[in-house]
Amino acid sequence: MDATKKPDVSLAGLLDLVEISSIASIKGTVGGILSLISDPAASSFDLIRLIELDPPLTAKILRVANSSYYAIAQTISDIHQALIWIGFDTLREIILTQKMSELYRGGIPVSGYSRLQLWRHSLAVALLAKTIYRREFGEKGNNAYAAGLMHDIGVIVEDQLLHQDFIRLVQSLEETPQSLSDGEASLFGYDHGLVGKGLAENWNFPAELIDGIGFHHNPEGAREEHRLFVKAIFISDYLMFEQGYGYVAMPLPDREILQQYVRDLGLQWYALRAIVELVREELEKIERKGYLIA
Ligand SMILES: [Fe+2]
Ligand SMILES: [Fe+2]
Repeated sequence: MDATKKPDVSLAGLLDLVEISSIASIKGTVGGILSLISDPAASSFDLIRLIELDPPLTAKILRVANSSYYAIAQTISDIHQALIWIGFDTLREIILTQKMSELYRGGIPVSGYSRLQLWRHSLAVALLAKTIYRREFGEKGNNAYAAGLMHDIGVIVEDQLLHQDFIRLVQSLEETPQSLSDGEASLFGYDHGLVGKGLAENWNFPAELIDGIGFHHNPEGAREEHRLFVKAIFISDYLMFEQGYGYVAMPLPDREILQQYVRDLGLQWYALRAIVELVREELEKIERKGYLIA
């Protein structure tokens, strides 16, 4: 790559561009869903009100709810029924997933990268992080799912708004193996973690999610109270990349770092391997049922 041809967009400039781009169209619904996740007093009424503010969303939710993926015996014709049959948490997850998927449409595959691969990766990391929290920590894992789904949002921002330079970078990774973050830092002066963190701050995401997005490649940089959570995202990202759910040609970080984080979270490898297997089966089902992209 010609290192002298640096794009002239600062991080602040890029974040301003986000606000006037189509990316910002998901802000209201995504922000609403995230505050419902972090509010223990949130009710079905709040969720329905949020859905009603975004009319095309209702049709999409009903399509997903009636898909063979959920295999519900009767036809679901409105949101109230969906709530009863699918449940509050799952419905909230479907909405977040549907809204996020809007950012990953289109684009032309190049050098092992495509928006669909990046979306498949995000979904894989979300499912693994959530399942770790459910099975190993006995928690619902809603935050982990959201952080997994959104951790690489900075990548799709670069793809959409710095397209030519981003594609040039992705192509260069095949000849010059380095992490995407290192390549971004030398080309743009910032990486996708920082882009995602800036977006998450501007959109008033919960603090845990800001750190989950911002520091998924270097959890030690996160605030101490969120560090274990961010390590869980790092682990999920690493393992799904390793399992073939990556989106770009790049070397993985030193495995010793992964092992250290697994120990920090008190996870056992046999349990983690079983969870990865479960998630792989789930992802295969999702792809088989055509549920992967909206
Ligand atoms: Fe990343
Ligand atoms: Fe990732």
